[in-house]
Amino acid sequence: MIKFAKVFKAYPKGTLALRDVSFHLSKGEFAFLTGHSGAGKSTILRLIYAEELPTEGEVRVSGFATRTLTRREVPRLRRRLGIVFQDFRLLEQRTAEENVAFALEVTGARRTTIGPKVARVLAQVGLAAKATAYPHELSGGEQQRVAIARALVNDPFVLLADEPTGNLDERATRGTFQLLRDINASGTAVLMATHDLDLVRSANYRTIELQEGAVVFDSADADGADAAGADTAGGAA
Ligand SMILES: Nc1ncnc2c1ncn2[C@@H]1O[C@H](COP(=O)(O)OP(=O)(O)O)[C@@H](O)[C@H]1O
Ligand SMILES: [Mg+2]
Repeated sequence: MIKFAKVFKAYPKGTLALRDVSFHLSKGEFAFLTGHSGAGKSTILRLIYAEELPTEGEVRVSGFATRTLTRREVPRLRRRLGIVFQDFRLLEQRTAEENVAFALEVTGARRTTIGPKVARVLAQVGLAAKATAYPHELSGGEQQRVAIARALVNDPFVLLADEPTGNLDERATRGTFQLLRDINASGTAVLMATHDLDLVRSANYRTIELQEGAVVFDSADADGADAAGADTAGGAA
């Protein structure tokens, strides 16, 4: 589903952010991306949603490959992904349900389908009762739930989460992580960048650790699991 093959990424001013990164994320899998600040976690996610292109090597995401990706295909690629960030990135002038609806409106979804879909994902993240609240009326944990609902509304095959608990207190962190686990249990792959090692240790998921842009550990290899292999591996843990 997602495959990195010998990927190098150099940013314009010369920082080598990724060095020879290869890994494969299977359909339905949950994996943590760990490593210190600056290790390259966000860069890996940016390459997956084609915010950046590799300098060398290839990234494959679903049916798309960076070598052949055209500008016009980028929105189509992103529609297949759900993305959440540390800082939520909600539209402050829109309510929770309007934020989620927006993700459907930009795809040209039919008006009549939008309402039921928005209601479904807000219920899924436990926020049905706050549908008409504005972001500033919600706690950090609730805002992140809105962002997760927005990421889910187009039925992505994978949810990419870049330090999704980085701005949350401990209780909201646990709630958000449990929500991501539930989403994974219902079949969506999750790739979560985090430097919260307590969180990583609290669950028995695959862990890919980066150090200065290189993968220094992948528990899928350590377990003798089929890291390079088939798309049929299914959910971890
Ligand atoms: N847009 C950019 N331009 C130049 N260098 C960047 C840019 N984004 C990230 N970097 C550099 O690339 C490296 C990896 O960054 P990043 O992927 O953000 O790491 P992480 O998410 O693990 O903290 C760091 O050295 C960072 O300074
Ligand atoms: Mg980062």
